Amino acid sequence: MSKLRYLTGITTTGTPHLGNYVGAIRPSIESSKSADFESFYFLADYHSLIKSYDAAALQQSSREISATWLAFGLNTDNAIFYRQSDVPEIPELTWILTCMAAKGLMNRAHAYKAAVADNEEHGERDPDKGITMGLYSYPILMAADILMFKANKIPVGKDQIQHVEMARDIAQRFNHHFGEHFVLPEAEINEDVAVLNGLDGRKMSKSYNNTIPLFEPSKRLRKLIMKIKTNSLEPGEPKDHEHCTLFQIYQAFATPEQAASMREQYAAGIAWGDAKQQLFEYLDNYLAEPRERYNELMANPGEIERELQRGAERARDLSRPFLQELRHAIGLGGLPI
Ligand code: TRP
Repeated sequence: MSKLRYLTGITTTGTPHLGNYVGAIRPSIESSKSADFESFYFLADYHSLIKSYDAAALQQSSREISATWLAFGLNTDNAIFYRQSDVPEIPELTWILTCMAAKGLMNRAHAYKAAVADNEEHGERDPDKGITMGLYSYPILMAADILMFKANKIPVGKDQIQHVEMARDIAQRFNHHFGEHFVLPEAEINEDVAVLNGLDGRKMSKSYNNTIPLFEPSKRLRKLIMKIKTNSLEPGEPKDHEHCTLFQIYQAFATPEQAASMREQYAAGIAWGDAKQQLFEYLDNYLAEPRERYNELMANPGEIERELQRGAERARDLSRPFLQELRHAIGLGGLPI
């Protein structure tokens, strides 16, 4: 029996933060170590082009994200780790799928609908103002990412379920016309994974500017942790751990026993300053080793690049022949001689 294939893309915008680590990086690194399934992880740099035209920022983010995944010990012998734009078969497949995807399906995509709603809210006469074809057909590029590698399971956040379903739809349409070439993918939502809040208590996200980047120097990490919003309860007053960002972050990293002991300290009225100091010490220690490795990698981009090129070669060993098969199925390419 062949192994299940997991595949997920990481959009190259921004600097990886604690929320990314807990939600996506840590579980992916764990799976990369298992030989029970095959995993594909890639930098979705074509996707980031939809959101930003800042070339230097895109480069920097690609470098930071790959250094982060490698620093935490991604097993790149098991998992295939590559950059989307190093696999030219993906944009080629994107065009083929664009011709199979219903426009009505794209009209229903959340990201597009949200952009239209935003225009309407602002009284714009053109509901499509500022919306590129890239944003509009984003789900088709994502379908190509997934279908190219015959992935079975797509570990994503809830906001991406719709995109995976669209990939499935498009694959079915293709298969219906040209035969069973594509595997139908399924989204996999890991309910055990915590969604972390940021400095202001809202979900930790680059768009809220409330993140704690993973590899800040100790001093800066401490400063950020001291900024996490708490309430005005005095030392000695019992505190509620349940809706507390500080506790939530601690729990996402600590062992269950350590979290239980922190809960007791909350009930016993720990001072916010002490709780923050404990969180800082815990994280600083947890991150020390990977941070060192990260800094090394950031200073040696050649090492990162070698990994990515090796990944791209492995990916293309699969994508090249598969694209040939697809081209043949739809009547493109050379004439029989
Ligand atoms: N759209 C995904 C996100 O914003 C990133 C992504 C691109 C992706 N291609 C993918 C995720 C393929 C899973 C599979 O998070």
